[in-house]
Amino acid sequence: MLYSLIRPLLFRLDPERAHNLTLAGLRLVDGLGLSSLLWRRAVHAPVKVMGIEFPNRVGLAAGLDKDGDCIDGLGALGFGFVEVGTVTPRPQSGNERPRLFRLPAAEAVVNRMGFNNHGVQNLVDNVRHARYRGVIGVNIGKNKATPNEQALDDYVCGLRAVYGVARYVTVNISSPNTPGLRDLQQGDDLDRLLGGLKEQQQRLADQYGHYVPIAVKIAPDLDDAGIDGVAETLLRHRIDGVIATNTTLTREAVVGMVHGDEAGGLSGAPLRERSTEVVARLFGRLGDGLPIIAVGGILSAADAREKLAAGAQLVQLYTGIIYRGPHLVREVAEALAE
Ligand code: FNR
Repeated sequence: MLYSLIRPLLFRLDPERAHNLTLAGLRLVDGLGLSSLLWRRAVHAPVKVMGIEFPNRVGLAAGLDKDGDCIDGLGALGFGFVEVGTVTPRPQSGNERPRLFRLPAAEAVVNRMGFNNHGVQNLVDNVRHARYRGVIGVNIGKNKATPNEQALDDYVCGLRAVYGVARYVTVNISSPNTPGLRDLQQGDDLDRLLGGLKEQQQRLADQYGHYVPIAVKIAPDLDDAGIDGVAETLLRHRIDGVIATNTTLTREAVVGMVHGDEAGGLSGAPLRERSTEVVARLFGRLGDGLPIIAVGGILSAADAREKLAAGAQLVQLYTGIIYRGPHLVREVAEALAE
């Protein structure tokens, strides 16, 4: 209810400013100890996925809290898990502004942020200081300046840095806003990357005495052969989970709309159907071999149920929160707890 009053004000602001203000507001509310007054407690409907007990099936998708500096404020909205990042080994400023666009008529967003973040060490400090009791996943990427031939070095650097604080680690090879990144989803590049990360994961597990699962996040723009190839490679390397999907480069659903032709990745309602198709295709190949975390265009409880029916075990939200407000978290968590 409160959000229906606040939304028109936020939508009058530049989207990136509205985003920063919202996070600052959540931090303030939490810092003043008001979260428990404003938000009801998280739905308790525990489920075990990737060997981790998640308090409920609903998570925050990567990209909203890139540096992990609002984990407690966001966690208080009722998420069972919060995925922070994408974070890169070294800080980088991302693309020039404007780089975030709302398409209200389509309940969609286009972004070309380009992994703006303060670097992995800063994120690790933030995760360490978080009080949130749900599951914290960390999404890692490569710096823009790192050529694909050296991508493994960046991902290994990220994995090593976050291993001690993350409950799971997501390998993001599907952002459309880092040139060439999506090429890592195929063939020898994917094979080398996952082989290298798996080896590093084993070493770290021995060193730390506990196992941190790795999930790989993929794009909705892969064709069937591409999805099948990814699925086969994930199984072969015994990767722990897959997150489907990131944003899309396609624009059919928003042709002619204001900002419809902005470069970047499209998210929100127009992505829902394709994203679910990818989940279903993956499930057909993976079966119970490894769990699927579904993300893309969830704006209601029904949308989330569709993802579970397609084979997912957990879901994540991003654009839906912008259009429907924070109560969406609880609504979806309750629906998936049944
Ligand atoms: C994203 N997303 C994203 N994903 C990721 O793995 N790393 C990132 O840094 C980001 N950054 C990011 C910024 C913005 C502004 C948006 C809107 C999205 C993708 C996000 O996690 C999710 O996969 C898609 O947005 C699809 O889900 P929704 O938004 O349709 O629920």
